[in-house]
Amino acid sequence: MTDDVTTPLRRGFDPSVPHCARVYDYWLGGKDNFATDRALGDAMIRAVPDIRHIAHDNRRFVHRVTRDLAVEEGIRQFLDIGVGLPRSPNLHEIAQHIEPSARIVYVDNDPLVLAHARALMPSHPEGRVAYIDADLRQPTTILTDPTLHDTLDLTRPIGLTLIAVLMLLPDTDDPWTHVEALRDALPSGSCLAITHPTADLHPDQINTAAAAATAAGMPLITRTHEAVRRFFGDWELLKPGLCPVAAWRPDHQAHDPQTAYYWAGVARKP
Ligand SMILES: C[S@@+](CC[C@H](N)C(=O)[O-])C[C@H]1O[C@@H](n2cnc3c(N)ncnc32)[C@H](O)[C@@H]1O
Repeated sequence: MTDDVTTPLRRGFDPSVPHCARVYDYWLGGKDNFATDRALGDAMIRAVPDIRHIAHDNRRFVHRVTRDLAVEEGIRQFLDIGVGLPRSPNLHEIAQHIEPSARIVYVDNDPLVLAHARALMPSHPEGRVAYIDADLRQPTTILTDPTLHDTLDLTRPIGLTLIAVLMLLPDTDDPWTHVEALRDALPSGSCLAITHPTADLHPDQINTAAAAATAAGMPLITRTHEAVRRFFGDWELLKPGLCPVAAWRPDHQAHDPQTAYYWAGVARKP
């Protein structure tokens, strides 16, 4: 397969255009954001008043899924694409807390995000954390990167996490094909975790927020339950299936576990 894409692979650093990682950082209470990120973040809060809670719910999902993949599925290697700005506990901290020798490869197409990640996310000495500057729309580039092979053993199960990133790929980029290429490269017992915004249940609110993002230069795609389900291909969805993010094995006081602005699911390769 080739890594052909229809839209540019990256923008240069431009604080006058909002960036998804910085807007997300703003909602989570971080400091790594600019006025333009906060302006869009506020516009989206006006459209979806719960959006900060949803960002926190999404982040807590990362914690729960990493824990469950490590404890229940015995996963010791993770490939996290669309890493975002560091916010402790990060995926590798949770995985290495459970198993210090866990190995994690973080991938992002934004050099600034990766610079933050490299500086702030050192590995446990017994394990390994590595970083690849690459685009989700270039699965062959990711899968043939020497850093990936130095860090992960692709003959043993991998936890592939695509958390709040597929929403940045338009249908014209055919994200399903890119995710399929990644799935195909992983061995039996590997797991895929996804969260993805949807307009299925609150279309007016989420469509207003997505339109604000697009108008500000940060296109954001919502997808239906069926469209998100297709990312998992024929892999077996683990309980409770593809559900609202706060309802996926909740272990905290979610503000409303049925709030469905984001679908979340995890599947295992047979
Ligand atoms: C909203 S953040 C999600 C952060 C993290 N996964 C989480 O949920 O906490 C999205 C991240 O995906 C990255 N990203 C966007 N498009 C990408 C692409 N095509 N390939 C790789 N990374 C991408 C952005 O730079 C950003 O760091």
